[in-house]
Amino acid sequence: MFATKITGTGKFHPEKVMTNDDLSKMVDTSDEWIMQRTGIKERRIANPETEYPSGMAFYAAQDAIKNAGLEPNDISLIIFSVTLPDYLFPNTASQLQTKLGISNECACMDINAACTGWVYGLQMADALIKTGVHKHVLVVGTEMTSAFNNWEDRSSCVLFGDGAGATVLSQNEDNDGAQFIDSILSCDGTKSGSLILKKGGSKSPITHEVLDNKEQFVSMEGQIVFKNAVKTMSRHCATLLKRNNLTTEDIDWFVPHQANLRIIETTAKLLEYPMDKVICNVEKYANTSSASIPAAVHEAFTDGRIKRGQTVLFAAFGAGLTSGAVLLKF
Ligand code: ACO
Repeated sequence: MFATKITGTGKFHPEKVMTNDDLSKMVDTSDEWIMQRTGIKERRIANPETEYPSGMAFYAAQDAIKNAGLEPNDISLIIFSVTLPDYLFPNTASQLQTKLGISNECACMDINAACTGWVYGLQMADALIKTGVHKHVLVVGTEMTSAFNNWEDRSSCVLFGDGAGATVLSQNEDNDGAQFIDSILSCDGTKSGSLILKKGGSKSPITHEVLDNKEQFVSMEGQIVFKNAVKTMSRHCATLLKRNNLTTEDIDWFVPHQANLRIIETTAKLLEYPMDKVICNVEKYANTSSASIPAAVHEAFTDGRIKRGQTVLFAAFGAGLTSGAVLLKF
């Protein structure tokens, strides 16, 4: 068995900034309401001409591969987490493969576990690296949430932003102790109706009626999602700690899904984990779904907060309702 190490990280956020004040000119809301309920100040909005999911992922992935000290052709598998892909098919990973100039016929797949997608991808990559099937796997989380926002629905459009995060996972050849320790993935499909884009799939294709009723956008029961998020994330983290004989004091950094500050604070409180060791950037980028953790990890690793040798815990939740957590030595 091989140990899995995060060898490279990268991120991309579009240039266009949309502030809460900008939003208050579009829907009946205010900076005060949004800040108080979510901790979000502004978000980035992709240019659909160039910054669709594989376009944003390209910038993040290029950095991650370079930071890992690799060439694009060293990657033998791309796992691309995306909720609304470039196309329904072919998959977005194949679009990224071409953009990166990978000519080695590497395997490409998209996964949809909504905001938990990158965490799902990590567990899969780890299993394939540990067992020697792959040596270097690119796991990307990229979301253009602006495409499924109903910009007339103040209860949901204020929450989301666009962005990409990318991570290269490799067999650890450095003998420096970096390794995946443990992970949990789960889903509660009975609550899938609480966060859903009901129309546009094979079951309910887009019709004139769907467009007239604006049913092609996300719909969400915010409080159900909130309660489920804090319960599952804190439970998964506690389980990982317990079964590895660790306590919160052993964790150098907790990087939760950046959905909103109240969810992050409540989860940390349930875990009895101090907020000053929680990586948080939701104020600047809002909820970028499965891009949020890899982008936050890249920021924290680049600015020197997360250091090699530290123990780091990730936790995420999202539509499905999916959830998961990963514990590793960075
Ligand atoms: N501006 C001003 N008022 C608003 C806004 C807004 N943007 N949105 C809702 N309101 C109003 C409501 O209409 C309601 O008014 P009423 O009392 O007159 O009916 C009032 O504010 C309270 O609304 P609630 O929905 O009860 O507000 P709540 O305190 O639950 O906060 C929120 C809403 C922020 C959405 C919260 O439920 C939440 O954070 N949920 C989790 C959402 C989430 O993170 N989803 C995505 C995660 S999964 C993924 O990442 C894909």
